[in-house]
Amino acid sequence: MLKTEAERHFSRELLNWYRANKRTLPWRANRDPYRVWVSEIMLQQTRVDTVIPYYERFMDRFPTIKALAGAPEEDVLKCWEGLGYYSRARNLQAGARMVMELYGGTVPDDKTAVAGLKGVGPYTSGAIMSIAFNRPEPAVDGNVMRVLSRYFCLEDDIAKPATRVRIEKLAASLIPEGAAGDFNQGLMELGALVCTPKSPSCLPCPVMEHCAGRMAGREQELPIKTKAKPPRPELRVAAIVAGTGANTGKVLVRQRPEKGLLAQMWELPHVLLTKEQEPMLAAGESGAKEQEAMGELLTKAVEADAGLLIRPRRWFMDAEHVFSHIHWTMRFYLADLGAAGEEAKAGVKSDIAAESAAAYETLPPGASAVRSPYRWIGPEDMETLAFPNLFLRILREYWDSIEEGEE
Ligand code: ADE
Repeated sequence: MLKTEAERHFSRELLNWYRANKRTLPWRANRDPYRVWVSEIMLQQTRVDTVIPYYERFMDRFPTIKALAGAPEEDVLKCWEGLGYYSRARNLQAGARMVMELYGGTVPDDKTAVAGLKGVGPYTSGAIMSIAFNRPEPAVDGNVMRVLSRYFCLEDDIAKPATRVRIEKLAASLIPEGAAGDFNQGLMELGALVCTPKSPSCLPCPVMEHCAGRMAGREQELPIKTKAKPPRPELRVAAIVAGTGANTGKVLVRQRPEKGLLAQMWELPHVLLTKEQEPMLAAGESGAKEQEAMGELLTKAVEADAGLLIRPRRWFMDAEHVFSHIHWTMRFYLADLGAAGEEAKAGVKSDIAAESAAAYETLPPGASAVRSPYRWIGPEDMETLAFPNLFLRILREYWDSIEEGEE
């Protein structure tokens, strides 16, 4: 197909600009497909500055596909701790295991095979094929859609899958002969450094001369993107349960189920409030009635799982965590385990609760995880168990407060 002057200009100038201005980034040291793969997975939904230290640690810890495929999943999660979207880590490892089984440990120079790896969608397969193998495949993410929507003044809604497909065809047609890797990275780099979401820097832009969006004065309003639904709010209460006896100085944590949100990560025990229960929390942070009600809720949840009675002592702090589809607001209480006498009063089978509490106290760490997702941990266990950011923050505050003798 014949190209317009604007298209030829774009491809040529972007490539020259990238080659002269590209940032030195750790995944650009060479074109090892495994390194490219890991970087592209980490860079989804995460900023370059945040990714760099994680990437370096991950490559030190799992330098080869074989190392990643053979590692315990919990080690991989631990290395990903704090980066969010943990299914990326699990899928990456599943993909590495596929490469071991199907392709003898080497990422194949084959688009269909790469696109068939777990966790690898059209963007990532395009990025791997172009950056690692220099194959003329497009790699279109949100940044690239923004750049091309502006340059060609496209008014299609980039939230729609059909728009992505259209832009992928356009991006593919722009790839200069023999330079797919640099061109695609140039697009990403331009989106990150120049053609930014807010206030794009048109003056230093290498392709401003033929940019139709800028010429129409519409660079700020493009791309068109319909808003996603806001995340659903959830109000939760959580307990920081202080251990006694052999567990003095430890707190009770549990491991999340194997599937679903934050699968297999560790957390403080918590419960979701129903819409009817939510007003109980609105009143204030530490009312006695509220505390009692929350104690009952937490006890019910944890008692069902582990036979432990929970008695909130006082409010500790509130914290938020926003996922793509859920917004958690979590209220944390410092809590104790209920005494045997109280168990009877609360109508809980005290023999079960006491037996279970005793079992947890005497089991060695690790053994309890086999019997139950609950476990008593001290600060040293934070080095091995993977917690979502929200709980990391709270637990660090808690250990600090203990050290300072506040609790
Ligand atoms: N964003 C996504 N992929 C990238 C890459 N390879 N370099 C810089 N930023 C990116």
